[in-house]
Amino acid sequence: MTGPKKRVAVLISGRGSNMTALIEAAQAKDYPAEIALVVSNRPDAAGLARAREAAIATAVVDHPFGKDRKAFERALDDELRKHGIEIVCLAGFMRLLTSWFIGRWRGRILNIHPALLPEFKGLDTHRRALEAGVKQHGATVHFVVEETDAGPVISQQSVPVLQGDTEATLAARVLEIEHRIYPEALRLVAEGRAKFAAPQLEIKNPRV
Ligand code: GRF
Repeated sequence: MTGPKKRVAVLISGRGSNMTALIEAAQAKDYPAEIALVVSNRPDAAGLARAREAAIATAVVDHPFGKDRKAFERALDDELRKHGIEIVCLAGFMRLLTSWFIGRWRGRILNIHPALLPEFKGLDTHRRALEAGVKQHGATVHFVVEETDAGPVISQQSVPVLQGDTEATLAARVLEIEHRIYPEALRLVAEGRAKFAAPQLEIKNPRV
């Protein structure tokens, strides 16, 4: 590893199993990132307690900003900057972010999605995968852009959909993959080996 470890914040809303996978990976000496902060928009998120157990700084950004998006995102952004955060990992963070926030963190904000993007963007991915009868499902880590679940893919892995699968059995199989690919993807970004590139504009009739 060259250079100091990148300071990472993980944003959660719930149980935080992906957060835990990142914390565990980051304990390795040669891992290029450290989890410096965990932020939840819900004070009752189970992941907060796990982060505290791991002696990681935690913050709740919620009340009184619940309904005021701008104030909420300013408070979140302040918190991240106060802790010198360089990379933000969304991990089950159930709040849509505005283009203001995403613009400020462009190329430095990642998300994990429980499906093989661009298939099954949005919620209830496992149910929809079963209903669609796909043979392969999986998980994707991607850079966050304004459009939900649409940013450039950093890492993706598939799992088979088996006969008799329920939402729960499929979700469990996908979750195992999530815990593997999120630390890998964060490593790639922290080492500068995966970089965000805005889509190329095609210029017709360029002036010379
Ligand atoms: C994961 O399935 C993740 O892909 C999705 O939300 C879930 C969060 O689970 N975005 P956890 O809180 O990381 O356990």
